[in-house]
Amino acid sequence: MKSRSDDQRIILPNSRIARIRPKLDDIDLRPVSIFDRAAIRRLVLDPEQEQFAGSVDAIFDGLQNSRHPDLEHPFAIVALGLRIGFFILREKEALPDWAPREVITMHSFRICRTHQGKGYGRAGSDLAIAWMRHNRTDVRQLMLAVNARNALARAVYLKSGFIDTGAIFRGPIGDQHLLSLDVQRQEDDQKFHGYGFSI
Ligand SMILES: CC(C)(COP(=O)(O)OP(=O)(O)OC[C@H]1O[C@@H](n2cnc3c(N)ncnc32)[C@H](O)[C@@H]1OP(=O)(O)O)[C@@H](O)C(=O)NCCC(=O)NCCS
Repeated sequence: MKSRSDDQRIILPNSRIARIRPKLDDIDLRPVSIFDRAAIRRLVLDPEQEQFAGSVDAIFDGLQNSRHPDLEHPFAIVALGLRIGFFILREKEALPDWAPREVITMHSFRICRTHQGKGYGRAGSDLAIAWMRHNRTDVRQLMLAVNARNALARAVYLKSGFIDTGAIFRGPIGDQHLLSLDVQRQEDDQKFHGYGFSI
């Protein structure tokens, strides 16, 4: 699968990470291709978490059969040279039915269970925002759907700056809350809080 727009790696400097958890080395995004299925399979979740992020095989089957492979951007979150997380950004014709046409959506977000609780989820979300600010300057909103039973992920997203739109999508495994983040405003907030990292 082609990943035309994902050729630039984005690195979050130590100074930003230090606000999340001290002593983390640089963390970055790396484009993932359909040939990375086995590597992403190694990002194991607790059994009860799997339903929320989807099985890796189902995700990769979806990517392999995508009608819009150029509009789906799978990324690994890499720390200390190791893939520790994964997510997909979708845009334009590849957007899900619940999303307005002018946004980008995030899907299948996961941090390997051995690396959860160390700030990588929040850093991964920040990196998705940074990628958008760098590569999609015309898009203002990042949106995602989080299951109503997934209190941990919802808390992490809210801490990352997402707001609950109040809209609910009735998905196959239950109600999904639609969360949204104003990328431009996030940039302003980061400047305000003295992050202001450049990529
Ligand atoms: C949801 C998920 C991505 C979060 O990743 P993570 O690396 O564990 O999260 P972080 O360590 O970055 O935590 C981010 C914030 O949430 C807080 N947090 C972590 N665990 C928490 C918990 N159990 N309850 C409340 N807050 C919690 C952290 O304190 C941190 O806040 P801080 O930055 O103010 O300290 C990860 O748990 C995961 O992969 N879950 C399974 C798959 C899933 O549910 N994906 C979401 C699909 S929508």
